[in-house]
Amino acid sequence: MSPISLQRKHSIATMGADGIGPEVVNAGVQVLKKLAKLDGTFELEFEEYDWSSETYKKTGKYIPDGGLDKLKKHDAILFGAVGAPGVPDHISLWGLRLAICQPFQQYANVRPTKIFRGTSSPLRNAGHGDLDWVIIRENSEGEYAGQGGRSHQGKPWEIATEVSIFSRHAVERIMRFAFESAQKRPRKLLTVVTKSNAQRNGMVLWDEVAQEVSKDFPDVNWDKMLVDAMTCRMVLDPKSLDTIVATNLHADILSDLAAALAGSIGIAPTSNLDPTRENPSMFEPIHGSAFDITGKGVANPVATFWTASEMLIWLGEEDAAKIMMDAVEAVTERGIRTKDLGGNSRTKEVTEAVCKELETVYAKLEKKEE
Ligand SMILES: NC(=O)c1ccc[n+]([C@@H]2O[C@H](COP(=O)([O-])OP(=O)(O)OC[C@H]3O[C@@H](n4cnc5c(N)ncnc54)[C@H](O)[C@@H]3O)[C@@H](O)[C@H]2O)c1
Repeated sequence: MSPISLQRKHSIATMGADGIGPEVVNAGVQVLKKLAKLDGTFELEFEEYDWSSETYKKTGKYIPDGGLDKLKKHDAILFGAVGAPGVPDHISLWGLRLAICQPFQQYANVRPTKIFRGTSSPLRNAGHGDLDWVIIRENSEGEYAGQGGRSHQGKPWEIATEVSIFSRHAVERIMRFAFESAQKRPRKLLTVVTKSNAQRNGMVLWDEVAQEVSKDFPDVNWDKMLVDAMTCRMVLDPKSLDTIVATNLHADILSDLAAALAGSIGIAPTSNLDPTRENPSMFEPIHGSAFDITGKGVANPVATFWTASEMLIWLGEEDAAKIMMDAVEAVTERGIRTKDLGGNSRTKEVTEAVCKELETVYAKLEKKEE
């Protein structure tokens, strides 16, 4: 695995995994291939990994022996979703997604939200441009640290614990990442989400570290919100927010709310970043494997397109990433949208429309250069 590649050739591992995952990842790869070909200034190499709940059912493992070492050689991972009927969700999540994120120390989970042109928010007064957030989720510990256990299983006196872990090391690195992210955005505005009134240990450390780290970012205007009040603010005053940092669980929930407020879970992207670049980062739509629509050809591929564009930014291809997102938005604006966004187009139609739009954009760019 290399840091930002000097030869501008990027090696991408693709892993559709379960449900609609392969459908949207294939759509993403189709658009990325078209983009790279038209752009001509960088190359993308794809290697497909068939790790999924099917493989688990056959072999008892999601990741084969030595699998992570193979994965580590790539510059980035484009992931679909994991979760299948017949496999408990905690087995699939811990068996594949978390089994990649945690050893690769992809500690910063970045979730941007916006209302696309041509789409509408369920919020009466929010239109395109009014909701423009980046939620930063601590992605390595907190409530999903995997600490705890069960005793006396099946007995009336059974107990189970799920212990949240907050280490100064991990809280500090995510706070620093969040302040840096806010600093790079025009509004330089950060909201730290907490629950330190009820959770008086880990969340109090969280608040204290936020206060300490803030001293290194005097130009960032920041405030603190309890997570319950935050849900109200997101709905009632979306324009007052910009960059948001929250724990693993809190941000997981808030980002689904954010996606719904922007119009659909089908447009929301995620980057699981290792900011040290020691390991490849992993890019995936926020949504899951959506059993109810699997195989019907109606999954919204836009979340994966946005995810792929975020991946390109991470790989240093900012110009192409912007062209790709503009093309996606031009397509939603023209009304070529899947059902979740109020349209009636299928995955294939949206994908082909984005490819066609890219052809038009690059043809115009070429003409300009002549
Ligand atoms: N990162 C992941 O791999 C991930 C994330 C969330 C859920 N899951 C897993 O996915 C499975 C299903 O979970 P769920 O039902 O809670 O969440 P889900 O996101 O799969 O589906 C929730 C609803 O949103 C709709 N939806 C989701 N993505 C869509 C898209 N691209 N286009 C149109 N509609 C879309 C679905 O049809 C469904 O009605 C479970 O096994 C869960 O554990 C995995």
